[in-house]
Amino acid sequence: MIEFRNVTKRYGSNIILQDLSFTIKTGEFVVLIGPSGCGKTTTLRTINRLIEPKTGTVFIDGKDVTKQNAVELRRQIGYVIQQIGLFPNMTVSQNISVVPKLLGYSKQECDTIVRDLLALVDMPYEENAQKYPSELSGGQQQRIGVLRALAASPPIVLMDEPFGALDPVTRDSLQEEVKRIQKKLKKTIVFVTHDMDEALRLADTIIFMDKGKILQMASPEEMLQHPASAGIKSFMGKHMDNDVPAAPLLAEDFMKKKVYKVYKSTKTLESIEMMSKRDINSLVVIDDDETYLGTVSIEDIKARGKAGRSIAELINTDIMTVGRKDDAKEALDKLLSSSSNYVVVLNDKRTVAGIITRTSTAKAMGEALWGDLSA
Ligand SMILES: Nc1ncnc2c1ncn2[C@@H]1O[C@H](COP(=O)(O)OP(=O)(O)OP(=O)(O)O)[C@@H](O)[C@H]1O
Ligand SMILES: [Mg+2]
Repeated sequence: MIEFRNVTKRYGSNIILQDLSFTIKTGEFVVLIGPSGCGKTTTLRTINRLIEPKTGTVFIDGKDVTKQNAVELRRQIGYVIQQIGLFPNMTVSQNISVVPKLLGYSKQECDTIVRDLLALVDMPYEENAQKYPSELSGGQQQRIGVLRALAASPPIVLMDEPFGALDPVTRDSLQEEVKRIQKKLKKTIVFVTHDMDEALRLADTIIFMDKGKILQMASPEEMLQHPASAGIKSFMGKHMDNDVPAAPLLAEDFMKKKVYKVYKSTKTLESIEMMSKRDINSLVVIDDDETYLGTVSIEDIKARGKAGRSIAELINTDIMTVGRKDDAKEALDKLLSSSSNYVVVLNDKRTVAGIITRTSTAKAMGEALWGDLSA
């Protein structure tokens, strides 16, 4: 059992978690959902003490986590994040064995664990154990990330948007696998997502968060039947059996309007400076008449750019575009299926209206749930 009792966290004057109190039962699959910045990751990391709250206490099985050695605690709590960061110089087998090894398991015990776990996700030991991460697909790497978190059979596993970067098909199959593994091994899982479909599919209990507070904590069924607010209701609409029609969402509803643009005549150096100042790795390139041409990335400038020259010859046209009145679903599908971090939204005259990123998507979903978040 995990219990939050009056947990508050601030950074400076920003209150990130506001007096959070809730309990997660042993063996429960809990999904935290809410707009970007609402404190999901902070909540998760408070459990394994990567973050210490200012006031309040987290208890695991009745024990105050701060009374335990943080490193020991973390070895008993699996942790999976997006871009799990498998160790590239270790084989699959070595990656999975990291924690068991730290805990002093013998080589033979580690080997048994690796065999058993690989069997769980249908990746035969003989074929996979000695591979390096670079020899695996993104979905396979993420599977190994999940297995690594399970290796020392921790009773609790924390997962922070573990499948966010995967294509929809791989994501589906991993969701099923995780649910199956959780049931089979009876783990307590706390899982963060932006995706309501994922939440409804996986959760025994969903926790809706906004601005460091819980708006609703309920089973998926209960949330569908008794959403705590009109906003939640309209969002859940598409999942309900009755005839509440979901408002058609357009690409423009999900886009971020502030886009860093450069004219094609901009010099390479100036473009690099702009990107480093904003901490971004690409810019949208426009023609003299403001119409969209493509994007330019910091990697391309570094690899092929010449000092003193413009970025015109480095323009990349692979990034997908959508019209602002296009169906949002199409835009999101493009975002999820492409390897780039955003899609560009165009006005009728092919000028740039905005970009859709994962964060802008989450914000828009949050607003669909709870109304204007800036108000
Ligand atoms: N080290 C830090 N210093 C200052 N502010 C921070 C720090 N870490 C997080 N924050 C702020 O705390 C808030 C909550 O962050 P958190 O990462 O928990 O959000 P989140 O719900 O996980 O968001 P996302 O969905 O984008 O991952 C954000 O406003 C963030 O900017
Ligand atoms: Mg987060």
